[in-house]
Amino acid sequence: MNDIKLSARLQKVLDTASSYSSEKKRIIDVGSDHGHLAAVALTNKGFERALLTDIHEDPARKSRDLMKGIGLDERSEVICTDGLDGASLEDGDVVVMAGLGGNNMVDIIGRAMSVTGEELLKTVTWVLQPQKSIEILRSFLCESGFTIKDESVISERGIYYPIVATSYSGQKSVLSLYEKYYGPILIRKHEMEDETTKEYFIRLDHSYELRARGDREVKTMLEEVVR
Ligand SMILES: C[S@@+](CC[C@H](N)C(=O)[O-])C[C@H]1O[C@@H](n2cnc3c(N)ncnc32)[C@H](O)[C@@H]1O
Repeated sequence: MNDIKLSARLQKVLDTASSYSSEKKRIIDVGSDHGHLAAVALTNKGFERALLTDIHEDPARKSRDLMKGIGLDERSEVICTDGLDGASLEDGDVVVMAGLGGNNMVDIIGRAMSVTGEELLKTVTWVLQPQKSIEILRSFLCESGFTIKDESVISERGIYYPIVATSYSGQKSVLSLYEKYYGPILIRKHEMEDETTKEYFIRLDHSYELRARGDREVKTMLEEVVR
């Protein structure tokens, strides 16, 4: 056990990752920064091992120090790299990416796909909390053969954070504009009157109305939406 308390956002990301891992052999945190999520995953969530990656040496060093300080260095590996470059995915891995931009995530997943066999890729779950450009991420996932398994929203200090759980199925699909910008599963949750999703959609409506002034696709999307 340790005293690390995750923010509501990171706790929700970890809970989602945990719920998609039956064997809990390994969690990978890309963009691990302080290393807190992986530390809690190992101590409180039953994961056997963790791989942490960060593109900057400073956070990678901090994570290494943390893991050593709480006696988790033998169950964890911290590497300073871009995304998953130089790391190999393993059967049943859960990969978490939180707080990175959607475009960055697209690049990281694309490169991982190019060096990972299809059968192995199908066993991996990705839990993604993009800080921006979630619509680009959703389109990429669906058009690249990923299935969006779940979407949820967590609110923390007045900010709404969407989280996507996805895995590769090999079946490519194309989202409608409404699904691309609001989320196929979140749309269903909204229809089922889920309170947090309803609050999140009010925020999205407002920001897309502003964005539509200079963005033709968003303008078209808003014209097509019937709720
Ligand atoms: C905003 S912090 C988020 C930290 C933590 N995941 C969270 O959600 O609280 C982003 C972290 O990701 C790292 N990062 C950004 N791009 C990355 C990449 N391509 N590969 C690995 N790490 C990256 C940054 O150095 C930073 O430590």
